[in-house]
Amino acid sequence: MVFYSTTGFPENTIPVTTLIQRSNCILAENLTFRYPERSKPALGSVSFGISSGERVTLMGPNGCGKSTLAKLLAGLIAPTSGVLQIFGQDLQAASASYRRADKVGIVFQSPDDQMVASTVEREIAFGLENMGIESGLIRAKVDALMDGFDLRKFARRSPHHLSGGEKQRVALASVLVMEPKLLILDEVTSLLDPVGRSDVLNMISKLKSEITVFLITQFPKEALIGGRLMIMSRGQIIADASPEDVFMESAIQKQSDIGVPLVYRLLKEAECSQDPSFRK
Ligand SMILES: Nc1ncnc2c1ncn2[C@@H]1O[C@H](COP(=O)(O)OP(=O)(O)OP(=O)(O)O)[C@@H](O)[C@H]1O
Ligand SMILES: [Mg+2]
Repeated sequence: MVFYSTTGFPENTIPVTTLIQRSNCILAENLTFRYPERSKPALGSVSFGISSGERVTLMGPNGCGKSTLAKLLAGLIAPTSGVLQIFGQDLQAASASYRRADKVGIVFQSPDDQMVASTVEREIAFGLENMGIESGLIRAKVDALMDGFDLRKFARRSPHHLSGGEKQRVALASVLVMEPKLLILDEVTSLLDPVGRSDVLNMISKLKSEITVFLITQFPKEALIGGRLMIMSRGQIIADASPEDVFMESAIQKQSDIGVPLVYRLLKEAECSQDPSFRK
């Protein structure tokens, strides 16, 4: 497995388990999850750590366990075994109310599933209204997010009457209004057309640097927005390194069947053409 080496720690001198344990946002050790009606676990023994402010992308084939991991990180399901700590809190032991806490935000593939209000501004305000926040403060936060996500013109429209990309921007704004420290994005661009996709990606790349982003995607290009790419296959993490290292490693692509951005395909071809054994 290719391992990620956190900057600041000299490579090969500190064991990987120590690097994982130093991660202050997510710490997963031998984490497993099995759906009750299934005999095999959806997630094998997974160990990794993520520090605050990191941008991490996760890729892998259909059914390999990506969304299961996302739901575990968001506290929507509890681990079957192993350790899972989010900001130092043990999710295995945490109460259901903690698991719904607002430190972690999650946005799914299909924004319709997350829409509950009759207008865009009510949708964005919904979480804060539920917490009983003072209305003036809610107004200010909702307005700031509508401006940031270019949604002001839709304020009084039903979210259901927007395009896919616009809806996904509303879904992102309504999660960000809660000021999560960890944002999990599960294939948020996969149902969008190229314009919607690039709009949403643009919004993600402009997020405040202190927000930790865990982005699941099927598009290799999206992996380049983060400094770190994890690859999952059959419930296991088989690579965890910089996108450059992962995309240049043919063995990983064979095992996981992920696509490779054009620039790395060209680089690999150039490398191969300089290798004399390749020309026979
Ligand atoms: N609610 C569920 N009950 C039982 N099995 C489930 C459930 N959800 C997912 N699974 C199974 O768990 C495994 C992992 O599914 P998961 O949705 O985590 O994969 P994924 O990598 O997100 O796939 P995709 O790329 O299609 O989104 C699959 O075998 C799937 O069939
Ligand atoms: Mg999924």
